[in-house]
Amino acid sequence: MRVADHMTVSPAPRVAGVLRVPGDKSISHRYALLAAIADGRSTIAHYAPGADCASTLDCIAALGAIVSRTPASVPGEAPLVTIDGRGVRGLRPAAGALDCGNSGSTMRMLAGVVAAHPFLKTLIGDASLSRRPMRRIMAPLAAMGAVLTAGPGDRPPLTIQGADLTGIHFAPDTPSAQVKSAVLLAGLQAQGETVVVEPASTRDHTERALATFGAAVTVAGPPGAGHRITLAGGQRLAGGDLRVPGDLSSAAFLAVAAAALPGSDVTLTDVGLNPSRTGLLAVLARAGARIDASIDDHWNGEPVGRLRVRHGTLRDLEIAPEEVPEIIDELPVLGALGVFGGSVSVTGAGELRVKESDRIAELVAGLRAMGADADERPDGFTIRRGARLTGGLVHARHDHRLAMAFAVAALGATGPTRIDGAGVVAVSYPAFFADLDRLAAGGAAAGARG
Ligand code: S3P
Repeated sequence: MRVADHMTVSPAPRVAGVLRVPGDKSISHRYALLAAIADGRSTIAHYAPGADCASTLDCIAALGAIVSRTPASVPGEAPLVTIDGRGVRGLRPAAGALDCGNSGSTMRMLAGVVAAHPFLKTLIGDASLSRRPMRRIMAPLAAMGAVLTAGPGDRPPLTIQGADLTGIHFAPDTPSAQVKSAVLLAGLQAQGETVVVEPASTRDHTERALATFGAAVTVAGPPGAGHRITLAGGQRLAGGDLRVPGDLSSAAFLAVAAAALPGSDVTLTDVGLNPSRTGLLAVLARAGARIDASIDDHWNGEPVGRLRVRHGTLRDLEIAPEEVPEIIDELPVLGALGVFGGSVSVTGAGELRVKESDRIAELVAGLRAMGADADERPDGFTIRRGARLTGGLVHARHDHRLAMAFAVAALGATGPTRIDGAGVVAVSYPAFFADLDRLAAGGAAAGARG
């Protein structure tokens, strides 16, 4: 779906309806990467439709995995992705640089995969990705035996001379699922054992996906600091038939709209409810929203279910540093919630400054341009209640989650908001504006009924 590069969002009194969000971006990347180094064929249904996950497919195809897409049997669903894997350490040198586009997940996790392949490759990205730090994966992958170089400030392009790797015990300072995953993907293809001890638990899709592809992974300790993942190197993976749950981080924009606007009632079906991702639901409930989430099924070890979100009177919300790792991608839209009735304050989220944009500075600047009373601090922001937005003109700053957060905030303004650079939503949720329109129309119809 093509999205115009500027979109105008009109105020809406409420949102209502039932929707299915696109496949999970994090899980799609992992299934594609593991399928590329698995033995045999994998099929992936409901693969994330955005440009980020297409970048991962393009990279593994350039490395010799055979990737094809066929129309899905379910109407409206993303094409079925089929990947013929090359086996562990079986990828082939690519003819040129591996283009990761806008996707930090692709670059960091692919680095772990290719570090174990004894040839030279260069990973490049767009202007936004070329500003993002890579030291966090370079250090552990170098400790395992690969040779990595990057541009000034350890930013892409990233050059990797792969090698016969040795497993490591690794305790990163900053919680990051991408870094953990890069090390585990390298560790799978290394000699000996690899152990990652997390400073705070992060999304565990890689651990679940490794088990789905047949690898033995041990996870010890409760979620939180000291969470420990152990993986023996040299295990083989088996391809299989996989299905990706809906992306809770995409659902988050619709969920926040429903929480924010009085009279709203939105249900999202087949959405991933992995407990390492559901921090948002606890936060929204604390803010006053009425949340019903039920796990109905497991797809390849990932919990899937229905999520219903209804508005409730909003209270002030303080988000503490220990909550941040599990809601890192939802913080922009939680900022948008702050313009609807209760203030929102976030600390301990300095990582937001090195995402697709500086999400602290750009979120605050955009919401202020729309009329919000907002301030940034080095590691977070405060959006104060009381200032009704007027709308106006904002720029998405090449960041899909900012474009969608501004759109949600715009629903509560007194006038229309024009979002420039809105086409960037195609990175993760190409149908976002169409889905938001559907829910706004559903809200208008519910209002007319009474
Ligand atoms: C992701 C991990 C997070 C998140 C990103 C996706 C993943 O990044 O922000 O959108 O799929 O592992 P970090 O690992 O840098 O925190």
